[in-house]
Amino acid sequence: MTVSPLNGKHIVLGITGGIAAYKSAMLTRLLIKSGAEVQVIMTPNAREFITPVTLSTLSGKPVITEFFSANSGEWHSHVDLGLWADAFVVAPATASTIAKMACGVADNMLVTSYLSTRARVFVAPAMDFDMMQHPTTTRNLQLLRADGCTIIEAAEGELASHLTGKGRMEEPENIVRVLESAFSPISASLAGKKVLITAGPTQEKIDPVRYISNYSTGKMGYAIANEAAARGADVTIVSGPVGHFYLHPGIKVIHVESALEMLDKAQGSFADTDIAILAAAVADYRPAFRHSSKIKREENSIDTVELVKNPDIAATLGAAKRPGQTLVGFALETDNELDNALRKLVRKHLDMIVLNSLRDHGAGFGTDTNKVTLVFADGSARELPLKSKSEVAADILDNLPK
Ligand code: C5P
Repeated sequence: MTVSPLNGKHIVLGITGGIAAYKSAMLTRLLIKSGAEVQVIMTPNAREFITPVTLSTLSGKPVITEFFSANSGEWHSHVDLGLWADAFVVAPATASTIAKMACGVADNMLVTSYLSTRARVFVAPAMDFDMMQHPTTTRNLQLLRADGCTIIEAAEGELASHLTGKGRMEEPENIVRVLESAFSPISASLAGKKVLITAGPTQEKIDPVRYISNYSTGKMGYAIANEAAARGADVTIVSGPVGHFYLHPGIKVIHVESALEMLDKAQGSFADTDIAILAAAVADYRPAFRHSSKIKREENSIDTVELVKNPDIAATLGAAKRPGQTLVGFALETDNELDNALRKLVRKHLDMIVLNSLRDHGAGFGTDTNKVTLVFADGSARELPLKSKSEVAADILDNLPK
């Protein structure tokens, strides 16, 4: 069994007054399971949403809310708590607490302890869609980022108000992932590196309502992006249309639809990229002509769709590659796999190619697992067993040619 990087760490968990406070019980549980010591601080409003009894039982420590203990009159030292902490996590963080933290309004134990801490601070906002979008919230989160806090972005989905949008607190499992990667010994291995990733499919429009595409979901590319960010890299994803994925804080996503747009954005970022990993399933062809209005069946207006070849993004970046840049591509082959992958690597000036096999069960589009062989420029290859896509992402980054 592997030991969590959080084992033995002191974590102050600040809970504020929002519906998502019910998830803080699970977060406490997961942190305790990872071996951390957890001291919960609740704001007075948080007690309206979840009881201190639940949290003190799960954490094994009395919950602190007030500056003084109601029973003994003992003073709870925010300074001691702040210094005790290795990580200071506020989850859920309401708009009000975010504002108080940003401006130093220390009128409760949580914000007072925040101002006293030297620990790394993680803030997981949770609020209604309109509050989340409000310029005040955006500004205050920006202030917290500038002060060095890591913002664990709220996810999109159904909210307590029954509105749908961004505002759900990130799931406790993902908050723990962020903390684990922050305290992982390998978390600085890509520090200072700029990583560019292409991910997902491209969509090539025939008319305003129809397109040519493929079954790529983007899972592999996003897993690599998260792993690279967890290792300290400055990550940009140029992403075709995909569903919602958990994203490690700090990752920049540039959304595109077509191969031409993907090429344009990838080229725009490539010059100051150290490592580019091209995991997108780029459509090989696009319609030669894009109809500006919907093609009508009744009018028999077309019989065929003429196609033209899309540019090869990997080969274009490969041709522009300068010394020191590392370029990684993917290959999906059905026959002569190794030979074809190697030929592709040479033609596109790649440093490594990740060969996917369609023959293996559990590998390929949409699955959570993948089975790959890493092929290098000197012709050597490393076959890996079936693993989760996040483990494959770690293998790819572990094996990057220098
Ligand atoms: O030639 P093939 O499509 O098999 O190459 C796969 C690799 O090349 C992948 O890394 C893919 O992201 C990249 N590629 C690209 N632009 C294309 C086609 C493929 O970047 N038009």
